[in-house]
Amino acid sequence: SDTLGIALIGCGTVGGGVAHVLIAHADRIAQRAGRALALRRVVVRDPHKPRDPLIPLDIISTDIQAAIHDPNVHVVVELIGGTSTAKQVVLDALAAGKHVVTANKALLADAGAEVFEAARRAERSVCFEAAVAGGVPVIRALGESLAANQVTAIQAILNGTSNFILTAMAERGLSYAAALAEAQKLGYAEADPTLDVDGSDAAHKLAILAQISFGVAAKPHEIARQGIDTIDALDIRFANELGYTIKLLAEAWTGGHSHSGTGAKLSRGGASPAAQLTGTPTVALHVAPVLLRHTDLLAQVRGAYNAVLVYGDVVGETLYQGPGAGQMPTASSVVADLIDLGVGRAQRTFAAARLWSREGRGFTVEPP
Ligand code: NAP
Ligand code: HSE
Repeated sequence: SDTLGIALIGCGTVGGGVAHVLIAHADRIAQRAGRALALRRVVVRDPHKPRDPLIPLDIISTDIQAAIHDPNVHVVVELIGGTSTAKQVVLDALAAGKHVVTANKALLADAGAEVFEAARRAERSVCFEAAVAGGVPVIRALGESLAANQVTAIQAILNGTSNFILTAMAERGLSYAAALAEAQKLGYAEADPTLDVDGSDAAHKLAILAQISFGVAAKPHEIARQGIDTIDALDIRFANELGYTIKLLAEAWTGGHSHSGTGAKLSRGGASPAAQLTGTPTVALHVAPVLLRHTDLLAQVRGAYNAVLVYGDVVGETLYQGPGAGQMPTASSVVADLIDLGVGRAQRTFAAARLWSREGRGFTVEPP
């Protein structure tokens, strides 16, 4: 039949939400995709854990390979996290001729080039809207809607857990440990929350945005990184008394050029005429807690929300904001990718994926 068969590998916070939406909103989704999307297999580590009651028990198993190679499965959704088993799942799925949807930013930051090379060889799509900023459609914005632009700078709040912790400490007087525990309970944090609070998760997402925007494959050491794990209640109180809010910002600034060494960072306008004349343009990437005035746009972003400010040389400044972590916001982006595949917009998402390794934009990453 014309039905698009789906295998969900991983059914925890995000996978549970995806399964629920696919089943609970099957009619709406079929209407929008122009055909039915059927959840055919769900693979987990522990088949005895309670799952969403909408998921038929007979489709749950622990057999990843059987799910990938099921002839009635056309799309494999990787939602287990991590970079080892997850990478194998994605590469095996592509080799088996299946499209892939993933929310795994650590994997794409680490092995994006290999994954997209495999996708190109297999002529299949890898869709990853949920990997950056959860429910905020920033991959489509950068990869498609802003295609006429050269992005000149990005300033973003990309880790919902850190933003949730900073907000809870500032507004509710929670301790760092209590705020982190709450973020974990709400399903915002990574399985290893160190990745959230030490800035790694934001750096992974910044690497993905930098790849799409500047065509650079930033290595971890090329992104200067500091997290919120050294910020205490006193820092937040003093900042507040001086009129500032502490935010974990992920930033990409163009404007330098490699042959000159340091390269001044420009605030909003992109490369200066002098920088455009000679040398390879550079982009500086960093993640760090910064002081923002209470009135700044990004200072207003609260809880697990994310926000991405993008400066484009044609459009000017655009802002994308919304829930950046959690079950349903992330499921919203995963299901949108599935609908794209169902409707045959795979080509469009495939085009976005091709941005991954597109050469010729000429940027190099400035050493931190
Ligand atoms: P999670 O709640 O820990 O769920 C992981 C799921 O994967 C569980 O169902 C687990 O099975 C299953 N699993 C783990 N290892 C497995 C293996 N070797 N074989 C089979 N199944 C395995 O994680 P999550 O929060 O949903 O995150 C999933 C992915 O989405 C990660 O890449 C994460 O970075 C990304 N993401 C998360 C959010 C968020 O807000 N949580 C937002 C955006 C992106 P059991 O249930 O049996 O343990
Ligand atoms: N742990 C991540 C965060 C999930 O808190 O932002 C969304 O990618």
